[in-house]
Amino acid sequence: MNQRSNFTSKLGFVLAAAGSAVGLGNIWRFPYLAAKYGGGTFLLVYLILAVTFGFALMTAEIAIGRKTGLSAIEAFKKLDKRFGFLGILASAVPIIIFPYYSVIGGWVIKYFVTFATGNVAASAGDTYFNDFISSPVEPLGWFALFIAFTAIIVLFGVQKGIENVSKFMMPVLVLLTIVIAAYGLTVDGAMEGVVYYLKPNMEDFSAKTILAAMGQLFYSMSLAMGIMVTYGSYMKKDNNLESSVRQIEIFDTAVAFLAGLMVIPAVFAFSGGTAENLNAGPGLMFMTLPKVFNSMPMGGAIGTLFFVMVFFAALTSSISLMETIVSIIRDKTGWGRRFTCIIVTVIALIMGTPSSLGFGIWSHIAPLGMSILDAFDFISNSVLMPVVAFFTCVLVGFILGPKVVADEVKVTDGKFKSEKIFTVMIKWIAPIFLILILASSIATAMGVFSL
Ligand code: TRP
Repeated sequence: MNQRSNFTSKLGFVLAAAGSAVGLGNIWRFPYLAAKYGGGTFLLVYLILAVTFGFALMTAEIAIGRKTGLSAIEAFKKLDKRFGFLGILASAVPIIIFPYYSVIGGWVIKYFVTFATGNVAASAGDTYFNDFISSPVEPLGWFALFIAFTAIIVLFGVQKGIENVSKFMMPVLVLLTIVIAAYGLTVDGAMEGVVYYLKPNMEDFSAKTILAAMGQLFYSMSLAMGIMVTYGSYMKKDNNLESSVRQIEIFDTAVAFLAGLMVIPAVFAFSGGTAENLNAGPGLMFMTLPKVFNSMPMGGAIGTLFFVMVFFAALTSSISLMETIVSIIRDKTGWGRRFTCIIVTVIALIMGTPSSLGFGIWSHIAPLGMSILDAFDFISNSVLMPVVAFFTCVLVGFILGPKVVADEVKVTDGKFKSEKIFTVMIKWIAPIFLILILASSIATAMGVFSL
């Protein structure tokens, strides 16, 4: 048995897991998906999935980790030899996400520098964002810089320092988001956006909404990629698993909700809630927020602060992504830490470059009819993660039996309040759902309908 250090307190565990969960997924990805997939409809579907599906899957993953004391690859193998492939499949997800995550991380640094050097007005211009991402070299430079920051921190093993800084920054980021959202809501036209964001409209509902919400749930809560198994392996038996899961979920969802409240009404107020604006995709936050800051008293300073905070949130996530990849490769190959870090950096640079160029000189390359970045995002969130989640459900629901997870949850105080929901979710609802979701992903990929 390998020795594992444990989180000393439940709060420590929740904060660490939430630190990995809260990142660009909440601030950058959630708002643009909500804008695209019908606002309130998307929000409602997301919330329902979070408390049922997300809860069940996160509980299962953390319990598997704590029970086995192993990280994903080994944990699944130990529980059932035939499920070893699941660990490998789960490990592929961070490898796909990390490079394009860093492309967006680079955009965040660019905007920070733009604001810090007083170019707020320019950044609020209509073509500023598109001119930036479509230029061949500049975004690559920021992307490389973001990877360099991440790699240096992972290489020198100074994560702790960064995590401590970001623990302090996370609440400030939340506060800042509230301030920016509150300001945005005072601008003419914002209320229309609030209604769009909060009021479900069944006309907007489709299989695509569920697919997008489900992918977002996995992404945002770092599910279906082995991360939570690893976190669970560090969790002490006397920390209450069920309430930890609830707290991580609430925190993660609250940050995403606030980010949506900050971005979507601002789209209506500053650009107009046209279909084209709502469908902006990955660029939405970068096109909208500069307009808010530009019209806001002290917008330059607030914007600078905001992008610094987002940078730190992104950095803690990218560190954890890279660390995961490095340890997977090291476990498999026995390579040294420094060598593995260098290899991972080079691979990430190579894999991320097409994602960046796909918005400019390579925009004619459109796999599955999407930009290259969107295609990577689609493969990990809409294909691989549902597959991993499906087999996790099969393993827990039918091979091991939900009782194995339930017993692990009960280790602390003999209670598992949501055991019934958990059992029904993991055995029946989630797997059936996942099959449907996968079918719709495949249909999308084959061009039967386009996202
Ligand atoms: N959940 C993170 C976010 O919302 C992104 C992420 C996905 C992640 N997978 C991860 C972070 C693995 C750390 C580790 O931005």
